[in-house]
Amino acid sequence: MKPYSAACEQNREPILQVLTELITTEVKSHKPTVLEIGSGTGQHAVYFAAALPQLTWHCSDQRQYHPGIQAWLDEAKLPNIHSPINLNVSEEGWPETQFDIIYSANVTHIMHWQNVVDLFAKGAACIKPAGIMVCYGPFNFEGKYTSASNAQFDQYLRSQDPESGIRNFEDLQQLAKEAGLKFVRDYEMPANNRILVWQK
Ligand SMILES: C[S@@+](CC[C@H](N)C(=O)[O-])C[C@H]1O[C@@H](n2cnc3c(N)ncnc32)[C@H](O)[C@@H]1O
Repeated sequence: MKPYSAACEQNREPILQVLTELITTEVKSHKPTVLEIGSGTGQHAVYFAAALPQLTWHCSDQRQYHPGIQAWLDEAKLPNIHSPINLNVSEEGWPETQFDIIYSANVTHIMHWQNVVDLFAKGAACIKPAGIMVCYGPFNFEGKYTSASNAQFDQYLRSQDPESGIRNFEDLQQLAKEAGLKFVRDYEMPANNRILVWQK
C-alpha cells in the first residue's frame, strides 16, 4: 500500500510555486536535474515532477522508505522520475554526478546534527556550479522560534529523539558558507515554515 502524508498534500502547492519561481530565476538550465534528500513517502516527487515536466527528479532516502516511494512512482508512471537511490547523507552512496538542485523537505529537524553537517558538506559537492540547495521546513532565527507551535513541535521532536530538533538558520548558514554556498532567498511559507535557498 502507498504511504500517505497529509502534510505533503497541504504543503505541496505552495512549495511548487516556489520551485517554479526558482527554476525560472536562479537555475540556468532549461532541463534542471533535482536530487531530493529524504523523499519520505514519494508524494512530493510525484507532484513536482508531474507539474514540472522539464525537471528530471531523482528520489533518495534510506532503504526502508524505498517500497513506499516506488509505489507512488509506479502508479504515477512519469518519465521524469528515477527510482530512489539508497542514501543516508552521512554514509557512502552520494551520486558521482552533479545536479542543478538539491531539494529537501522536513529533513533537517529529523536528522541528527552530524547528518545536517554532512548534508551541506557532501550535498554541496553534488551541486553544479550556480546550482541551488533548497530546504523546506521550520527553522529558528537568532535562536528564537518563529511561533508557539514550532516551539511545541521542537519539544516533541526532542522528546522523541534528543539529537533531532528545529535548526537555527545561522548555524545552517555557517555550514553553507563552509561548503561554498551563498545564501540567496528566504521564503515565508504557510504554517510557520520557510524555504531557504543557497547557491553554489
Ligand atoms: C519527516 S520525513 C520528511 C519526508 C518528506 N521529505 C516529506 O516532506 O514528507 C524525514 C525524512 O528524512 C530522512 N532522513 C533522516 N535522516 C536521514 C539521513 N541521515 N540521511 C538521509 N535521509 C534521512 C528520513 O528517512 C525521512 O524520509
